[in-house]
Amino acid sequence: MDVGIDKIGFYVPKDYIDIVELAKARDIDPDKFTIGIGQDKQAVPQPYQDAVTLAASSADSILSADDKKDIGLLIVGTESSVDESKSTAAFLVDLLDLPEDIRSFEIKQACFGATAGLQSAYDFVSLNPGKKALVIASDIARYGIKTPGEVTQGAGSVAMLISESPRVLKLEHKSVYMTRNVGDFWRPTFSKVAFARGKFSNEVYVDFFTTLWDRYQAKYDVTADDFSTMLFHIPYTKMGTKALRTLEGKVSDEKYAELMANYQDSVKFSREVGNLYTGSLYLGLLSYLVNAAKANENLLLFSYGSGAVGEIYSGEIQPGFEKVIDKTSLETMLEQRQKISISDYEKMYEVEYHDGTIVDPAGVDAKFYLSEIKENERIYKKNN
Ligand code: CAA
Repeated sequence: MDVGIDKIGFYVPKDYIDIVELAKARDIDPDKFTIGIGQDKQAVPQPYQDAVTLAASSADSILSADDKKDIGLLIVGTESSVDESKSTAAFLVDLLDLPEDIRSFEIKQACFGATAGLQSAYDFVSLNPGKKALVIASDIARYGIKTPGEVTQGAGSVAMLISESPRVLKLEHKSVYMTRNVGDFWRPTFSKVAFARGKFSNEVYVDFFTTLWDRYQAKYDVTADDFSTMLFHIPYTKMGTKALRTLEGKVSDEKYAELMANYQDSVKFSREVGNLYTGSLYLGLLSYLVNAAKANENLLLFSYGSGAVGEIYSGEIQPGFEKVIDKTSLETMLEQRQKISISDYEKMYEVEYHDGTIVDPAGVDAKFYLSEIKENERIYKKNN
C-alpha cells in the first residue's frame, strides 16, 4: 500500500516585521541578517494566537467534511504548548469539528516533533486501511528581544493529511535516525523564550546531517544522484546551505548546483516567515512544491530537533500534486499580511494574558482565537 502526504496546508499570522528594520533597530548591518542569516521577514503572532489557534488554522485550510470522517489519528508536534497536561490536539477536536473516535495527542522533541508525528501516522495508516491521520506542526519561535536568536524567530503552522494513495508525496519507508543527549537548545518549563548555544547548535545540526546521510547511503545503496532535491529543517535559511555545503567536492558539480538551486526554491516561504520550529522542514516542502517541484521527483528530507534527534527519509512527488495545493491562496496569504513597526512588535512581545483575561472579539483578525482565560483554563473560539 502506498502511504504519504495527501494534502498539505499552511497558516501564518497576519503581522510581520521587516528584517532590515530589525537589523537597523539593533544597530547591525542588514546584510548580516538578509545574507548571513538569510531572512527577509518574520511573522509575529497576536497575543490571542498560540499553538492551538495556529494549528486549527492550518488544518482548517485543508480538511473537507469527508476527510474528517476518515481521520482516526491526530498528532500535533509542538514545543510551544499551552498546557503541561492537556494536549494541543484535544482542543482541536472542537475547533475543527472532528469526530470523537480519534486517537489524539501532542508530541514534543524540539523541531523533530512533526517528523515523529508523520512517521507514526505512516504506521497508523499502513495498519488501518481506509483511515487517515492528521499531523500538525505548530509553533511560535521565541528567543527574546535583542538576543542573537531574535533574527531566527517566527510563527506558524503546517498541517498534513496522511492517507493511502497519497496525492502529494509518497513516503518511501526508507529512513535512518539518531538520538544524542546534546545541550544545543532548550526551553525550561518556567521560560517563555528558548536558550541556545547558537554556534554549537549549528555544528551539531551539520554533524547530524553528515552522519545520517552517510548511513542512509550505506543502508540503501544510493548516492546524491538518486535525488534531485534535498529538503532541510530551516531554523533560518542559511542553515540548510551549511549542511549542503558538506557535499561540495563529494558530488558532481552539476549535482551540487542542482541541489543548491532547488534548495533556494524550498526556502522562499521561510525567508518570508522565519522559524516555524517543527513546521520548518514542511514549510520547505510546501515552498518547493509551489515554486519548483516536478512529478516523480525523489526528495530527501532531513529533520532535526535540538536536544537532539535527527532523521533522514525520502519520498516521491506524485503526478498531479499541483492540483491538490492551493497555490493562489498560499501566495495571497503571504502577500496580504501587514508590516508592523519594531516598536509595536516589542510591545506585543511583552503582552501576557492571565487568569481573568477576556479578549474583545472586535479586535480579533483571525478565524481561531483565544477568547478567555477562566479559572486558569484557556477557552478558544472560532469566527465564522
Ligand atoms: N554581511 C554578510 N554576512 C554577514 C555579515 C555581513 N555584514 N556579518 C556577519 N555575516 C555572516 C557571518 O559570516 C555568518 O555567516 P556563516 O554562518 O556562514 O559563517 C552569519 O552572518 C551569522 O553571523 P554570526 O555567526 O556572527 O551570528 P550570530 O553570532 O549573531 O549567531 C546564530 C547566529 C547562531 C544562528 C543565532 O542567530 C542563534 O543563536 N540562533 C538560534 C539557534 C539556531 O537557530 N540554531 C540552528 C541549529 S539548531 C536548530 O535548528 C534549533 C531550532 O530550530 C529551534
